[in-house]
Amino acid sequence: MTAHRDRPESGVTASPRDWDAATYDRISDPMTRWGAEVLGRLVLHGDETVLDAGAGSGRVTEMLLERLPTGRVVALDATPSMLAEARRRLARFGAQVAFVESDLLELSPARLGTDAPVDAVLSTATFHWVLDHDRLFANLAGVMRPGAMLAAQCGAAGNIAGLIEAVRSTGFERAGRWLYATPQDTHVRLERAGFDEVEVWTHPEPTPLASGEELETYLETVCLRTHVAGMSSTERARFLSEVAAAMPEPVIDYVRLNISARRRS
Ligand SMILES: C[S@@+](CC[C@H](N)C(=O)[O-])C[C@H]1O[C@@H](n2cnc3c(N)ncnc32)[C@H](O)[C@@H]1O
Repeated sequence: MTAHRDRPESGVTASPRDWDAATYDRISDPMTRWGAEVLGRLVLHGDETVLDAGAGSGRVTEMLLERLPTGRVVALDATPSMLAEARRRLARFGAQVAFVESDLLELSPARLGTDAPVDAVLSTATFHWVLDHDRLFANLAGVMRPGAMLAAQCGAAGNIAGLIEAVRSTGFERAGRWLYATPQDTHVRLERAGFDEVEVWTHPEPTPLASGEELETYLETVCLRTHVAGMSSTERARFLSEVAAAMPEPVIDYVRLNISARRRS
């Protein structure tokens, strides 16, 4: 392999926090499909209050609300553009949904703004963006009533290893920070944070995309979002097409980390 190229100095700045929420909403069919499966693990009667931790543009939140005809959802996310997209999508639910802009690492009962602890937590495609899972799980336990369920899925150890290798073959290390945790570490962390009935497992989720624009837009918006954040549009286009060409096939080699756990009584 050649020496790593430096990332281009383009003068274009974008916060790693920024998401292109409208594009994410359009291309997030894979996450929505996985989210439906995670939501299917939550036993709900329809009148609960549920926290969606990292609600994004609200596509999974919408399915959650449909299962709560007399319940409530707190849609929490750290990114204002995502929350704005979610507000648009979920407007028809009125006061049944509250929107909270917060980092999950700063989550507390006061920040959540509910009168009582929540009855369940759902989280999809988010935890790997949060770099301190001990604090994350402790914060979640702190807003859940005893016996409340957590159903979650995020990237696991080994997630998108082939894609990261394709980036490396172009002379770059993928820039950004994630925590792709192992099931073993996650199990220990959840118990330490006050959960029992902990189940953690992984499964591969190879995700085919059409080569060309669909694949490159997906890489730009999701997997390589933080890497390309500071690039000019010309640099981005060149880099994304180099990575796409280096992939053996237009398939994202996702590995998902699944979590089911109960807040200890
Ligand atoms: C890939 S999106 C997933 C959105 C949605 N759950 C879904 O499945 O489509 C990840 C979301 O996590 C949010 N996020 C990342 N780190 C966060 C943090 N520390 N606190 C709160 N939200 C965070 C991002 O803003 C983004 O909306």
